[in-house]
Amino acid sequence: MLILAFESSCDETSAAVVFANGNRFEIKSNIIASQVDTHRLYGGVVPEIASRAHTEAISRITYEALDTAGVSLSDIDLVAVTANPGLIGALLVGVNFAKSLAYANNIPLVAVDHIKGHVGAVYLDAQTIPEPPFVSLVVSGGHTAIYHVKNHYDYELIGTTRDDAAGEAFDKVGRILGIPYPAGSGFDSMARRGFEKLTGKTEDFYKGFDKIKKSKLSELKLPSPAIAGDSLDFSFSGLKTAAINLLHKYEQRGEPFPNEEFAAAYTYEAVSAIAGKLDLALAGTEAKCLVLSGGVAANSHLRSMVKDVADKHKIDLFVPSPSLCGDNAAMIAVAGYYAYERGAFADISLNASASDGI
Ligand code: KG4
Ligand code: ZN
Repeated sequence: MLILAFESSCDETSAAVVFANGNRFEIKSNIIASQVDTHRLYGGVVPEIASRAHTEAISRITYEALDTAGVSLSDIDLVAVTANPGLIGALLVGVNFAKSLAYANNIPLVAVDHIKGHVGAVYLDAQTIPEPPFVSLVVSGGHTAIYHVKNHYDYELIGTTRDDAAGEAFDKVGRILGIPYPAGSGFDSMARRGFEKLTGKTEDFYKGFDKIKKSKLSELKLPSPAIAGDSLDFSFSGLKTAAINLLHKYEQRGEPFPNEEFAAAYTYEAVSAIAGKLDLALAGTEAKCLVLSGGVAANSHLRSMVKDVADKHKIDLFVPSPSLCGDNAAMIAVAGYYAYERGAFADISLNASASDGI
């Protein structure tokens, strides 16, 4: 079947055509109109500007998605749209557009949770799909959440951040380091340079890094965002605030800030906390594999530490290719397919919601 999917929950307007055949998915087109250049001027996403930009782009990118796929609306079997969570005005643009299009062309409609969409990204370029039950970590600008996925649509939240998301914290701390928004990818490279300087290695930085932390980073002490004990929760606001205070301390003393070493120290705390909680989650479940997704899943250090966790538990790790980690509509088509499979259709009364659903 051919699915036309829409994503407009934050600062990317995306439309995609995906061919689904059983559990196999093939991207026919995946058009993404990014607004980051506009929001960069403000250091973050401005919701009203995002809604306007979605409104301006959505019709054009829909026709571009159909043209690129070489199909017309009459070939489409299902319309899927992100309905939650996200910026409400931004979500409403996609939801209303998808509803109108489905209704006017008599095509079935399904509503998709953005988080399930992120997990769906790994189904798009894997040779095999992740077999449930599995553990999934979704790390993005708005989420740091661990799920126990019992089947392709049944997600149980087993761990989450109690305040800031990992991506949001990377963006805010990165801003102070002078990295343009969104800071994740620049932070990743800056940390790599820091790890290289501190370890003298060009890869495999993390084993034995605790020792290096003690000897070379005593001035750059940072708290772990992992909640202590058996909880699978995180708190990134403490790490973020400690990082900002540290930067201010150097500023007040008029000393140059060791940006690269700091980026490595910060990344190590953020990423090793996530890997540690995943290790704990896997110990407590019968997971057959591990799935890592969301914008922050593009982080090279996170990918490599999480791979070590999967290897330790002798299970496969599924991670989307970096180009499918960020927001895109093809991943929404996958989650839409599973909503369709269980008959969870939406109708013209569908509304968007800013809050988490799952
Ligand atoms: O999933 P996503 O595209 O949008 C949301 O649903 O939030 O995630 C965007 C987030 C941003 O915070 C961005 O800085 C972060 O993903 N990000 C990264 C990397 N690439 C993107 N964070 C760390 N390392 C990266 N390489
Ligand atoms: Zn996202």
